[in-house]
Amino acid sequence: MTTINLTGKIAVVTGVSQGLGEALAKRLDQEGCRIAACDINLEGVTKVCQNMNNAVPYGLDITNYEQCVQVAQTIKDRFGRVDILVCNAGILKSGDISSLSTQAFRQVIDVNLVGYFNTVKAFAPIILPQKQGSIIQINSKSGKVGSYKNGAYAASKFGGIGLTQSLALEFAEHHVRVNSICPGNLLNSPLWVNSLFKQYAQNQNTTEEAIREKYINQVPLRRSCEYEDIANMMVFLASDLSDYMTGQAINVTGGQVMH
Ligand SMILES: NC(=O)c1ccc[n+]([C@@H]2O[C@H](COP(=O)([O-])OP(=O)(O)OC[C@H]3O[C@@H](n4cnc5c(N)ncnc54)[C@H](O)[C@@H]3O)[C@@H](O)[C@H]2O)c1
Repeated sequence: MTTINLTGKIAVVTGVSQGLGEALAKRLDQEGCRIAACDINLEGVTKVCQNMNNAVPYGLDITNYEQCVQVAQTIKDRFGRVDILVCNAGILKSGDISSLSTQAFRQVIDVNLVGYFNTVKAFAPIILPQKQGSIIQINSKSGKVGSYKNGAYAASKFGGIGLTQSLALEFAEHHVRVNSICPGNLLNSPLWVNSLFKQYAQNQNTTEEAIREKYINQVPLRRSCEYEDIANMMVFLASDLSDYMTGQAINVTGGQVMH
């Protein structure tokens, strides 16, 4: 019988200095993986790693391909292989068409889409020859449906699903699987608490409390998405339980998105 057993697997996770990435890296750590934890914020990711059993921090800006290649090589030299690659690092800049600058639009695409491409491109030469591996992109429900006054983010995430499907086709002959997870709104994450509630209240001309209520009311299961919901799906996709799944973009949205 196939079971979830990730003990001793080498997992690379990006965007680990806070938020979902921190939670995902910690869950893989609890599952017995050895973690290469990457973030543009080296100080932050170093602190996070101090509270884990088996994690090494790396400074990495995923928009810089040369840096991705250097870090991938350093990780290969240290760990010898990469079994699981979780592409989590991402940013969000909201705004309607008149307020969102071309520069901000480019920046979001650069981190969320080009950064995902750079990360996989840098690690593929390590993972593909192993003839096994699981690549997991953290996408969003905004990769499946448009997001109000949030076009840059949705465009970057829709693009990410196209890349996931294409890479899944390309890597299938190597038995390397590529899937995306599309979380709902993580209303208790720093992204929402420190930034999005303020941004949305401002550009939708209402209060932060009204925004929270609005977003909860959109969820059939009537609660916020939590880190554990995403971590459970990540562990499934990282393990052999999902051996027959590739090219999927799986909604974890409390029923908010159904396609
Ligand atoms: N929070 C949500 O509600 C939500 C919902 C759906 C999907 N997501 C996705 O989950 C992922 C994590 O989101 P979060 O809420 O934890 O965000 P966050 O802002 O709390 O954390 C993002 C992390 O990525 C790092 N990062 C940013 N730019 C980087 C770069 N160029 N190179 C390397 N690291 C970089 C940051 O330093 C930070 O540690 C993102 O891909 C986001 O789109 C979040």
